[in-house]
Amino acid sequence: MIIGSISENKNLEKRISITPEISKKYISSGFKVKMEKGIAEHIGIKDEEFVKEGCSLDTRENILKESDILLQMNLPTEENLKHLKEKNLLIGNFNINNNQDIINKFKKKLSIFSLEMLPRITRAQSMDILSSQANLAGYKAVIDSFSLFKKAIPMMMTAAGTIPAAKVLIVGAGVAGLQAIATAKRMGAIVYATDVRMASKEQVESLGGKFLVVEGSENLETEGGYAKEASEDFKKKQESLIYETLKKIDVVICTALIPGKKAPKIINEHMIENMQPGSVIYDLAASQGGNAAYTKVDEIVEKNGVIIVGESIILNKLPVSASNLYAKNLFNFVLNIYDKKEKVMNINLEDEIISKTLIR
Ligand code: NAI
Repeated sequence: MIIGSISENKNLEKRISITPEISKKYISSGFKVKMEKGIAEHIGIKDEEFVKEGCSLDTRENILKESDILLQMNLPTEENLKHLKEKNLLIGNFNINNNQDIINKFKKKLSIFSLEMLPRITRAQSMDILSSQANLAGYKAVIDSFSLFKKAIPMMMTAAGTIPAAKVLIVGAGVAGLQAIATAKRMGAIVYATDVRMASKEQVESLGGKFLVVEGSENLETEGGYAKEASEDFKKKQESLIYETLKKIDVVICTALIPGKKAPKIINEHMIENMQPGSVIYDLAASQGGNAAYTKVDEIVEKNGVIIVGESIILNKLPVSASNLYAKNLFNFVLNIYDKKEKVMNINLEDEIISKTLIR
């Protein structure tokens, strides 16, 4: 059984789906691995490193024609999909809401699995691409925003005087938000966080953050552990709480999302007007519409001296770590479908992990 991977559009995507380390694991599990020549050179991984682990390098055309399983980050172009053989397993993070037309065209011919649909159950944690990538995004957002902030982060007592610790607000304490809290704390900031799910209060506090509770509010958590859209009453209460808090905040990291909906608008123009000049808002929700007013995708905007960063593909700034985790997630997913005894892929629809990720 041949596992292949072809180069992504490197202008848009720096991550790769199979690392040399993981290719070795596929090979020792009984697969053959074929990679497109030069697939990872842009992130400092030479073709020879794949060859050393037992992979073969080939042209894109041959890989598409010969592979039984194609592992990618993004959905390949229609032109590339046309060349895949019938029943090929195509696995990746295919953003199915935005790619419906092309997926509908190929979903009968191929078995397309999109891992953003993975159920968030314990057994699937090692395959959870949303968590592995969000965790790194939360970390990098802190590093990036601190580098744009013109003051020091930790409190410093020096002979020349004391520098106060920077105050950071994390909006949305899911996977990215919690890592942002941990990273900002490690760097010496005073960290506040807010979320609509009450379960996150304990998690925020266990990381040393101060949780901002919207008084008298209901817990807006779905059974699946995600956020529900807030009521008008909640939004008003949250607004005045955040308005007051933001006056003393130096850096804001926005991560709030509601699955399948536009990102909630939490920081409005009026709040930004009242923030201290030099403050930074780093909006990780930019590509879903942003949590902050003025956010522009992949642009840095300045309003009243406040810097607002709309970051959409932050993982391109950490492509090696992001690829390492993504490739491991995919490996665990592939092994869950693979029947080792029979040496075939077994699409068992009674397995929740398989049935929820297969696009039908
Ligand atoms: P996400 O990326 O969908 O959203 C990020 C955060 O924004 C969430 O915590 C959400 O509650 C919050 N949010 C939404 N609207 C908000 C608003 N108006 N104001 C403030 N905050 C708002 O969520 P993510 O990070 O993917 O995690 C969602 C859930 O999934 C969490 O409960 C997490 O613990 C759970 N999870 C479970 C895993 C498992 O394997 N069991 C693995 C990973 C996550």
